[in-house]
Amino acid sequence: MFIFDKIDIQDKKKFYAQLNIYLENLIGEEKDWLPGISNASALLYQLMPEINWAGFYLSRGEELVLGPFQGKPACIRIPFGKGVCGTAAITRKIQVVKDVNEFPGHIACDAASQSEIVVPIIKDERLIGVLDIDSPVKNRFDEMDAEGLSSFVDILNQRICWPQHTDGITAY
Ligand code: SME
Repeated sequence: MFIFDKIDIQDKKKFYAQLNIYLENLIGEEKDWLPGISNASALLYQLMPEINWAGFYLSRGEELVLGPFQGKPACIRIPFGKGVCGTAAITRKIQVVKDVNEFPGHIACDAASQSEIVVPIIKDERLIGVLDIDSPVKNRFDEMDAEGLSSFVDILNQRICWPQHTDGITAY
C-alpha cells in the first residue's frame, strides 16, 4: 500500500518538489510504462487540489489515443492539431489554458472543466504523448504548474521505458 500525505499547495514550488519525490518513490525500479503512468495519474488526481481529470494521451501515428487517467470517461482519439491536447502535441509546447471556453477548438470531455494544462512528453525527439490535467476552476494553472509538471514528466521520461509503437511526428 502506498500512503501519500496531502501537500500544501500554497507554495507551488514546494508542492511540486514533494509531489515529484512521491512520484520517484511510486515508480521505484519499475520500468514498464503502463503501471508507471497509471499510478502517476492516480497520484496527480489524489494530491492536486481543484482538478477533475488527470491522465495521459499517447501518440499513435498522427493522433493521440486515450491512456491511463483518473476522472470521467473521456474522448478516445484526438487528431494532432485538434483541441488543447492536439495543439500541445503538434507545437510540442506546454499549453496553459486559463479559460477553456476561450480556447478555439477546445474538446470538452467533462462539461465541468474550466481550465486546463497539457504537457507534451518528448523522448529523444519522439513525441510519446501528452499529460493532460483539467480543473473545474478558471485560472487554476500558471507557470509554476507548467514548471512543476515539466519536472514530473522528466521523471517519467528518465525512469520509464515507453512503448515502441507510439510513433511521433516531427515538430512543426
Ligand atoms: N480538453 C482536451 C480533451 C481531453 S479531455 O480534457 C480529458 C482538449 O481540448 O484537447
